[in-house]
Amino acid sequence: MLKRLLSELKQYKKSTILTMLFAGLEVITDISVPLIMAWIIDYGIVPKNISRVYQFGAIMFIAVIFGLVTGAGAGKFAANAASGFSYNLRKSMFKKIQMFSFSNIDTFSTGGLVTRMTTDVTNVQNSFQMIIRMAVRAPMTFLSALIMVIIIEPRMSGIFIIAIAILVVALFFIIRHALPIFREVFKSYDSLNESVQENIRGIRVVKGFARENFESSKFKKTVEKLYKRFVQAEGTVVLNSPFVMMTVYFCVIMVSWLGAHFVVGGSLSTGELTTLFTYIVNILMSLMMMSMIFVLITISLESMRRIVEVLEENPDIVNPENPVMEVANGDISMDHVNFAYKKNAKKYVLSDINLDIKEGETIGILGGTGSSKTSLINLISRLYETTTGSVKVGGIDVRKYDLKTLRDNVAVVLQKNELFSGSILENLRWGNENATEEECINACKMACADDFIQTFTDKYNTHIEQGGTNVSGGQKQRLCIARALLKKPKILILDDSTNAVDTNTDEKIRNSFYNDIPNTTVIIIAQRILSIKDADRIIVLDDGKINAIGTHDQLKETNDIYRMVYEHQQKDGADFDAKESF
Ligand SMILES: Nc1ncnc2c1ncn2[C@@H]1O[C@H](COP(=O)(O)OP(=O)(O)OP(=O)(O)O)[C@@H](O)[C@H]1O
Ligand SMILES: [Mg+2]
Repeated sequence: MLKRLLSELKQYKKSTILTMLFAGLEVITDISVPLIMAWIIDYGIVPKNISRVYQFGAIMFIAVIFGLVTGAGAGKFAANAASGFSYNLRKSMFKKIQMFSFSNIDTFSTGGLVTRMTTDVTNVQNSFQMIIRMAVRAPMTFLSALIMVIIIEPRMSGIFIIAIAILVVALFFIIRHALPIFREVFKSYDSLNESVQENIRGIRVVKGFARENFESSKFKKTVEKLYKRFVQAEGTVVLNSPFVMMTVYFCVIMVSWLGAHFVVGGSLSTGELTTLFTYIVNILMSLMMMSMIFVLITISLESMRRIVEVLEENPDIVNPENPVMEVANGDISMDHVNFAYKKNAKKYVLSDINLDIKEGETIGILGGTGSSKTSLINLISRLYETTTGSVKVGGIDVRKYDLKTLRDNVAVVLQKNELFSGSILENLRWGNENATEEECINACKMACADDFIQTFTDKYNTHIEQGGTNVSGGQKQRLCIARALLKKPKILILDDSTNAVDTNTDEKIRNSFYNDIPNTTVIIIAQRILSIKDADRIIVLDDGKINAIGTHDQLKETNDIYRMVYEHQQKDGADFDAKESF
């Protein structure tokens, strides 16, 4: 895990190494200052030799300045390395997420992915910044101070061995207890992000249903849970500090006691005792730093795991070797297709689908909510992979195509569609980044979007807010259709994409497909029979199976479901699912 993570350091390896080098140099100051102090006392103050005091004082001054410079250098490089590290991590994670298939995204929640890219990376960045400085400085200070103590007074070393043993045991228990709690903390972060996202996204619905209080109390519960877990986790980790302090005082008392004996006995000088005290502080400071490192690692271990999980997730839909780079035509065929979202699902969402659609045909799909219409069309552009059976486009299995080629040729106006912040033109050019303004206008004319765009003051330069909140539902749908048309696809799929458009405009859009792109295969999923009645063929889906295929007239005569929906909609214009109450 650590190896995978550290491989993201890349160009910041140099800064990391420099940080460690400077932190190592800082230790020279830590160690030399107490020694110089001892000299000042033993050779200057005690024999009352003032020129020695000045001499050693000057050396000490230089040592301190050296420490200051190396310390500042280590800090600067550490900040650089850590920020660069998080920059690389975020970049790689984002790139990986872009490669995810729909089913990969289903395994992580959106909120979870947001936490991983923000909180988790920040966590690792902060820990990394501290650790690369301390990981060198602490053990080096510790070891060299210990060696100095042993050189000055070997009889004191026993004290430190006891102290270290106490600390190691304490740390072990603290970390073992804290780690699972931190795991829970991050899970709570996920649900916090999900809750915020869901609420803010659906804020209009929340307000419409006057559910603010309900949502607030739901949110409060999530935040409270996070708060409690955090207090619990941090509460365990702070135990670390009293343990270290206890050890510090234990050492100070022991050294004072033993030291006093030795000084009185004449085997230790006053300067040496003062120096010993400074080394104790050094040793204990470095122990404190080392325990901090453990705590930081504990906290960020869970974040590291969550980051690596994203980085190592295998996109389950990838380009094949030697991909086909051209879609010959808009034919579609499905051969004994079964499909389930989860591998171990008991029941297929789509079962035994056989279809043969010729280029230029217009196909309507009708079926109740949950009858798997969306699932069916998602297989054509390989947004999901079939469980068994094959889907062919232009006579070739979709798994053999280059993904971009396939998706450029199979344009889907998704049921849950999105516009992004930017101008209308920018949004349209998602379909084809090189489209001229004229091409964009043409596509909008076909999608009946040009009329309303012309009424905006900034016309095609009108700014669209994030999620397309400043255009109406029907306008958004028409922009999404225009965006898909700009791809000049061989197959165009509209998944319930005109349900917010009035019937007149809906018809106009269909007519323009018929007249302007006669060779494009068009698949229209609709709840309104009116939207599909002129299609060459209509597929009636029921519970993931094809119930019937035929023209409007044929189905009206022969298919019970179709006839029922038709008659019902004739009567009062209701949509498909009203058949239940029929
Ligand atoms: N991402 C998903 N993961 C798991 N199950 C899913 C997923 N998407 C849809 N399903 C399930 O698959 C079944 C078919 O859903 P699908 O979205 O294809 O229906 P639909 O006919 O498009 O419905 P609607 O008319 O409401 O759009 C449903 O039972 C649904 O719960
Ligand atoms: Mg659907």
